[in-house]
Amino acid sequence: MTVVAAPVIAPPMSLLAELTHRCPLACPYCSNPLELEHTARELDTAAWKRVLSEAADLGVLQVHFSGGEPMVRRDLEELVRHARAVDLYSNLITSGVTLTEGRLAALIEAGLDHVQLSFQDVDADSAERIGGLRGAQARKLAAARMIRAADLALTVNFVVHRENVANVGAMIELAAELGARRVEIAHTQYYGWGLVNRDALLPSAAQLEAATAAVEAARLRHAGRMAIDYVTPDYHATQPKPCMGGWAQRFVNISPSGLALPCHAAETIPGMLFPSVREHALGEIWQHSEAFNRFRGTDWMPAECRSCALKERDWGGCRCQALALAGDAAAADPVCERSPHHQRVLAALAASEAPAPELVWRVNRR
Ligand code: FES
Repeated sequence: MTVVAAPVIAPPMSLLAELTHRCPLACPYCSNPLELEHTARELDTAAWKRVLSEAADLGVLQVHFSGGEPMVRRDLEELVRHARAVDLYSNLITSGVTLTEGRLAALIEAGLDHVQLSFQDVDADSAERIGGLRGAQARKLAAARMIRAADLALTVNFVVHRENVANVGAMIELAAELGARRVEIAHTQYYGWGLVNRDALLPSAAQLEAATAAVEAARLRHAGRMAIDYVTPDYHATQPKPCMGGWAQRFVNISPSGLALPCHAAETIPGMLFPSVREHALGEIWQHSEAFNRFRGTDWMPAECRSCALKERDWGGCRCQALALAGDAAAADPVCERSPHHQRVLAALAASEAPAPELVWRVNRR
């Protein structure tokens, strides 16, 4: 690992532990890398426990156990128990399709604090077509009811795109019926397999406007009872989002094989070497690695970002999106109307007004 001198950096708030890329679903917007990590390369239990301890020592407050589907790891309970032992708040991000009462009880006994349960749609046929798993919707509904019966905090997540965006109002009502404290309506992000299917997934301006109106109406209906988070598609904005709260400022991801990444799509950036937690302590990586310092702060920014009054609000947007759309991770995010590559976003928006092409399905290879 190349080490660079840098001032002491505030610790990350959250660690995303991508325990595995194995997943029973095969969603066409999956943001995991095009080449999934093989099971044999996954970090073992001892390594994950060491990473959790190092994260707590660094000042991390929350760990999100994610994937793929983290429930396929048989050591999940042991990892949750360790997270509790080192005072990390633990969140399980799951599709819920493999959850059983016994497994849920074991996770709660180990100290699990919260579950984020994903749904692909309200309608079973549509949801199961997108997720690629017949019978998944009934299992997810059962999982939600088990979680609430156990009085565990529940967030329900819907990924929204052209095929299901008309159902946003019904999605929020389903989340309320299931007893969720929070529902996330998150438009698809276009990384990994999601980028392959962007023209089939990006909603039109009229679809987005209707969805936003449905969210605003639901916020009034559910005020004080259920929080509604709404993530709109970047492409329809004129200013970029502060992706990950700024590169290497608030979050650290650990890939299944142990690479430390400032975001889940960072591995797409060519020429960057991401350090492994197999070889380096997390604190050393966070403070000193070249990769984490590459786009931290504002010094790296191109002229149009450095002269912008919003540079410490949006942090230049998303590096992976700049790579995907401009071919250069160090360019301004093309979502920004000041970007010389903004035309590429406008072209994608024009495509969203045309009939959608067929979805291309991921074939899981392992
Ligand atoms: Fe990598 Fe936004 S997803 S910086």
